[in-house]
Amino acid sequence: MTTKQEESGNVFSAAVIDHASNPRNARSMDDADAYASVLGPCGDNMEMWLKARDGRVKDVTFWTDGCGATIACGSMATELAKGKTLGEALAISAEVIAMKLGGLPDDHAHCAGLASLTLKKAIIEYMNLQKEPWKRAYKRQ
Ligand code: FES
Repeated sequence: MTTKQEESGNVFSAAVIDHASNPRNARSMDDADAYASVLGPCGDNMEMWLKARDGRVKDVTFWTDGCGATIACGSMATELAKGKTLGEALAISAEVIAMKLGGLPDDHAHCAGLASLTLKKAIIEYMNLQKEPWKRAYKRQ
């Protein structure tokens, strides 16, 4: 027997609850190679700090003022990105993040989009700084 909440898809998976209550990589990074901040359509903010070596994500961390689902998405996105090539990490979509978390309620699907977009922005920022390193002096750390 399913509850009305389960039938409507508005229930959090065990993985979402786990990542929301015990988020991985939830911290800033003093010596990051790149930084990104994105404001989601709901008004929540996510930040990510990225360190890369030899074309791979060496470390990536996040912070958000968003809901538990957003925390879970930032946690999962950073876990998925670690060790990947920059190209592989760029391909981590909202759908992949949500799927790895066992799904998200419809009204929280955008939380995975915020995490995916912040990750992409941090990687692109890293790539741009490789081409134009003098811009680093103007970037927030
Ligand atoms: Fe806004 Fe989750 S409710 S990102």
